[in-house]
Amino acid sequence: MKFFLDTADVAEIRHAAALGLIDGVTTNPSLIARTGRSFGEVIREICDVVDGPVSAETVSRDYAGIMREAHHLAKIHKNIVVKIPIFDEGLQAVRRCAAEGIHTNVTLIFSPNQALLAAKAGATFVSPFAGRLDDTGIVGTQVIRQMVDIFRTYAFKSEVLVASIRDPLHVTEAALAGAHICTIPPAVLKALSKHPLTDIGLEKFLADWKTAKKDGFPV
Ligand code: G3P
Repeated sequence: MKFFLDTADVAEIRHAAALGLIDGVTTNPSLIARTGRSFGEVIREICDVVDGPVSAETVSRDYAGIMREAHHLAKIHKNIVVKIPIFDEGLQAVRRCAAEGIHTNVTLIFSPNQALLAAKAGATFVSPFAGRLDDTGIVGTQVIRQMVDIFRTYAFKSEVLVASIRDPLHVTEAALAGAHICTIPPAVLKALSKHPLTDIGLEKFLADWKTAKKDGFPV
């Protein structure tokens, strides 16, 4: 499973990339606005920090506008993935981008049918929002499992990129559902390696080490 970092905070991206924990980055208009910085500047900087797919979202609501944005974004860097929300004109643009070799990430997906439409249009990634499905009382990762099954049945090349991840359990459930990628907020990524029993065990090991015969170890 690949891990993308779901943020536009370049400092967080640098930190996670230095640890070798991430394979790409996803942004959206809300995450960009949260930085207080200009869109183009942030996206260019992220592309310089991470050697992997970087999703940058379009905001036009018409086909011509989306394609204008897609061409502009694709020119910024070879790793740019054009993020397009799912709606009919968006899908038309996804199909055109696929024909031109521009990678796309179809976002704001909440149903298997939306994921199926995006895969049929040739999306590189489809982004179901697990947390926001949970917010409505639906078990988000069960919907994601349905998407994965459909993609396997028809051998779609599109990859399921689980978004709206709120806690480590979402990552576990997305992995069990067979999703290809999780895009994870920095705080959740930091929590993945943590466990209280690990802390307790490490403390005990180090306490016992104090009385061990070391003959020069650790070097
Ligand atoms: O990638 C989408 C994600 O940023 C949305 O997360 O928690 O606002 O549903 P959330």
